[in-house]
Amino acid sequence: METRLILFGPPGVGKGTQAKLLAENFGIPHISTGDILRAAVTAGTVLGMKAKVIMDAGKLVPDDIMINLVRETLASPRTTKGFILDGFPRTLEQAKALSAIFKELKIVRFHVVNFEVDDEEIIRRLDNRLICPKEGKIYNLEFDAVNKGGPCPSCGAALIQRDDDRPATVRERLRVYHATTKPVVEFYRQQGVVMTIDGTGTVDVVNREIRMML
Ligand code: AP5
Ligand code: MG
Repeated sequence: METRLILFGPPGVGKGTQAKLLAENFGIPHISTGDILRAAVTAGTVLGMKAKVIMDAGKLVPDDIMINLVRETLASPRTTKGFILDGFPRTLEQAKALSAIFKELKIVRFHVVNFEVDDEEIIRRLDNRLICPKEGKIYNLEFDAVNKGGPCPSCGAALIQRDDDRPATVRERLRVYHATTKPVVEFYRQQGVVMTIDGTGTVDVVNREIRMML
């Protein structure tokens, strides 16, 4: 049976980390709207240049851009066995558009995995996050044997901090999450598709918890 998951939750809660594991567990693609935007920034496309300013300010990229991007991605044949959507939807407008896209694609069955971790822990996680600019692998200074500027254990590229992980930007991303994104979970609660996960356990514990709930 197809596995279709929407990973929902605040910045830094562990969506990307779990999405990568679940994509391996189930052999389905990980679709991260943040990763798609960062790839556009690196490639220097018009979308990338526009998105960079918004992302560095901790704001949301306009709905019409994000909705078109996700519509195109989900229409690809590689998603027919399922997918893990990470970072979309983030507004009620996006959630409603996704319902329309699912209808077009005749998708009925899906789950929303709603991660919960308090803001204090999120600030700590993002303060310690490093990413591989080449493969997008995610690390943490507290429990992975890595250093800023040091080599990615997987490919050797120099690890970097994301530009939007600066403290002022993290605070704004959290504010936007609480004001605009968090209320979207109600839209899905009414459809009875929400699984809430305590994101405070270790990476392995959270992964096991999600797979058990499925
Ligand atoms: P996006 O890239 O989606 O960022 P985000 O939602 O803010 O989430 P993050 O990627 O920061 O965190 P995460 O939950 O993936 O955590 P991670 O696994 O890395 O979006 C970036 C920007 O793009 C947005 O601000 C916006 O501007 C724009 N954008 C994207 N989508 C959009 C949309 N739909 N609409 C409009 N704009 C959009 O983990 C974080 C750290 O914690 C890591 O160091 C990790 O190692 C560690 N960690 C993970 N799990 C655990 C654990 N269980 N215990 C301890 N540490 C852990
Ligand atoms: Mg992420």
